[in-house]
Amino acid sequence: MCSSGFPTLVDRPCDRIRLWGVEYKADLADMAQASEVPPSPSSLNLSTRFNLGDGTSMPALGFGTYQINDDDVVAAVETALKLGYRHIDTAQAYENEVGVGKGLVASGVDTSEVFITTKLWPGNPDWGMPSKSYDETIAATKASVEKLGVDSVDLYLIHAPFGGAEARLAMYRAMVTCQKEGLVKSIGVSNYGIAHLQELEQAELPLPAVNQLELHPTNQKSELLAYMVERNILPIAYSSLAPLSNWREGQQSSKDDASREGPSLVAGVAEGTGRSEAQVLLRYALQKGWCILPKSIREERIAQNMDVFSFELSDEQMSELDGMEKDESLAWPNGMDPTKAE
Ligand SMILES: NC(=O)c1ccc[n+]([C@@H]2O[C@H](COP(=O)([O-])OP(=O)(O)OC[C@H]3O[C@@H](n4cnc5c(N)ncnc54)[C@H](OP(=O)(O)O)[C@@H]3O)[C@@H](O)[C@H]2O)c1
Repeated sequence: MCSSGFPTLVDRPCDRIRLWGVEYKADLADMAQASEVPPSPSSLNLSTRFNLGDGTSMPALGFGTYQINDDDVVAAVETALKLGYRHIDTAQAYENEVGVGKGLVASGVDTSEVFITTKLWPGNPDWGMPSKSYDETIAATKASVEKLGVDSVDLYLIHAPFGGAEARLAMYRAMVTCQKEGLVKSIGVSNYGIAHLQELEQAELPLPAVNQLELHPTNQKSELLAYMVERNILPIAYSSLAPLSNWREGQQSSKDDASREGPSLVAGVAEGTGRSEAQVLLRYALQKGWCILPKSIREERIAQNMDVFSFELSDEQMSELDGMEKDESLAWPNGMDPTKAE
């Protein structure tokens, strides 16, 4: 750690600093700026990678594949990769890992250039699904790697903190083993609250590199993110587009009809930028220092969702969006917030 005056944030020799997962060149002016607004909006571009606490890095822009079936996902992933995405997010529970692997091959992009995240489905006894054991976790990891048709995945997450402390720790220990064996390069969690993260710390397990969470202007999880920043756990945002009136229309979500009919919360900001509401929401997340994973099955939207590096939101526009906080969980059924699971 260098003596630059940013003791909790600086973890590299003095020629580089890392802040909220973003690596900066460490000239003093950069440091001063970085300490105020992580990341510096003008530093963001299509190739931006956010650093992980385990020494690796991942593309800030990813492509989400939830609710795209195993057939349709082939073309969606192929399109996304041909357009320039280099990060795909899938999960055992999406039942589309085989299709994601086929899309990867169809794109012609070398596997080594693509960052692939998948997730372990942990079970959920409350839904009548038994928790995964240590051995079952290792078997599930091997199955995911095989379905994707790769040698290893870049990032492997526990999908949600279901099943209680004992089961969670057994699964996490198995993931540490999978990392040591080279099946997965980085390990992380998803939908973990502070109590779940503390559980890992108390068990003296390595901290997760990331926590993938529902994050958007109406659900900002400030306390949890502050806790993660102190521990260098990178936030990955999912359902960034949830405030849109058409979000997941006809598909599973907790968004009610009333919120679809009313004017979208971000319309005013979008008008001010000349960009779409979707682009504003994605840019908001990036300027917060969150990785993004927009999902679409439409080529024009897949293209639009990566065109978020040629404009900036002002401090005022960011504050306006911040002011929309409602602690609103929309992604899971019945308004459920999985970060609060027992
Ligand atoms: N870890 C977890 O528990 C978790 C939970 C949820 C999601 N995720 C991950 O995060 C990814 C993204 O989240 P998400 O799928 O919930 O939602 P999202 O990407 O925020 O939004 C997808 C919805 O917005 C629509 N859409 C996409 N681009 C648009 C645009 N430019 N303009 C207007 N509408 C647009 C899509 O419709 P069309 O497809 O018809 O374009 C779809 O209805 C997932 O796919 C998944 O990989 C993880």
